[in-house]
Amino acid sequence: MRASLGCGNPVNVASLHEGETVLDLGSGGGIDVLLSARRVGPAGTVYGLDASLDMIALARRNAEQAGVTNAEFLHGTIERVPLPDHWVDVVISNCVIDLSGDKAAALAKALRVLRPGGRFGVSDVVVDGELDSECRRVAGQRIGCVAGALPVAACRELLVGAGFVGMRIALTTDHGDGVRSAIVQAVKPAAGPGLEIRPMLQSDAEQVLAIYQAGLDTGQAGFETTAPSWEGFTAGKLAHLRYVAVDTATDQVVGWVAASPVSARPVYAGVVEHSVYVHPGCQAHGIGRALLEEFIAASEDAGIWTIQAGVFPGNTASLALHDRLGFRVVGTRERVGCHRGLWRDVVLLERRSAVTGQ
Ligand SMILES: C[S@@+](CC[C@H](N)C(=O)[O-])C[C@H]1O[C@@H](n2cnc3c(N)ncnc32)[C@H](O)[C@@H]1O
Repeated sequence: MRASLGCGNPVNVASLHEGETVLDLGSGGGIDVLLSARRVGPAGTVYGLDASLDMIALARRNAEQAGVTNAEFLHGTIERVPLPDHWVDVVISNCVIDLSGDKAAALAKALRVLRPGGRFGVSDVVVDGELDSECRRVAGQRIGCVAGALPVAACRELLVGAGFVGMRIALTTDHGDGVRSAIVQAVKPAAGPGLEIRPMLQSDAEQVLAIYQAGLDTGQAGFETTAPSWEGFTAGKLAHLRYVAVDTATDQVVGWVAASPVSARPVYAGVVEHSVYVHPGCQAHGIGRALLEEFIAASEDAGIWTIQAGVFPGNTASLALHDRLGFRVVGTRERVGCHRGLWRDVVLLERRSAVTGQ
């Protein structure tokens, strides 16, 4: 306890179970490793990772004194975690990620070592709003970990960018001057057998729009740069043809599909344009295909005879997916829209139903 330098209790929020494998990023004197080791029991393992050899040595002494045998302390940095992919069930950390000069790399490595469906439960220092450099300097004299602390919105953006879903950031202790401790929780998406396609609900709004934004941020998904509000999103989309893909292990939305009518003219009543978005952290797992198959079947049931889509020529994964599901290339619309200062082509695809509209 005397060696503890944290700003909260990540072990409490990580809901550890017997037999789980846990990694503590920046384990210091080892307090959270030792607490986690008790929770996961002899069938589990807890790794502590720290860049300081002195802290590693201290943590090993503490583990020995505590009689803990299922903990291992590794020397390394959180930006280059020395563990294989999909190795751990849970990543915890206490007042360390805010210190990193490359937080995106640290989060990417946390995601890499987590198994699909794995949990991220971290206690850290954040800034509630913006803090100018003078306020940060003054606050830093009282709170050592404030130098690299990010605003909450930036933390959320980094987590989405790394590929996490199900983000929850809860502010806890108020350190003054807008500096807060926070509990940050997120989940690595799981895909595969545990995937459910179901109608989109209003309660999915936050996750659907986060996936939309993450897709737009890749620059390959659409001309827009900012996802609309939920009202804007739902206003243009047919209510009976909106679906989400949900990871049943975590209940997280990992993708969605929706469609808009292409025209108000009655002759085109059975023609829609669809969009399908899969979370960038879980692509190439068949989620897009599962969503599109469900959507095609439902649209044919609903009397839709033609589904069309516009895809950037560089989005080869999307083009291949649509090809496999019976879409044909109508042609390429040349320099049809300006995107981030570049005039871009769009490949126009369509799928004519063989069962509806005959
Ligand atoms: C504020 S202390 C917190 C220690 C511990 N988590 C606790 O709650 O007591 C920060 C720890 O992170 C380690 N650290 C800082 N930056 C790191 C990095 N990039 N990679 C690995 N360890 C790091 C430091 O050596 C130190 O032990």
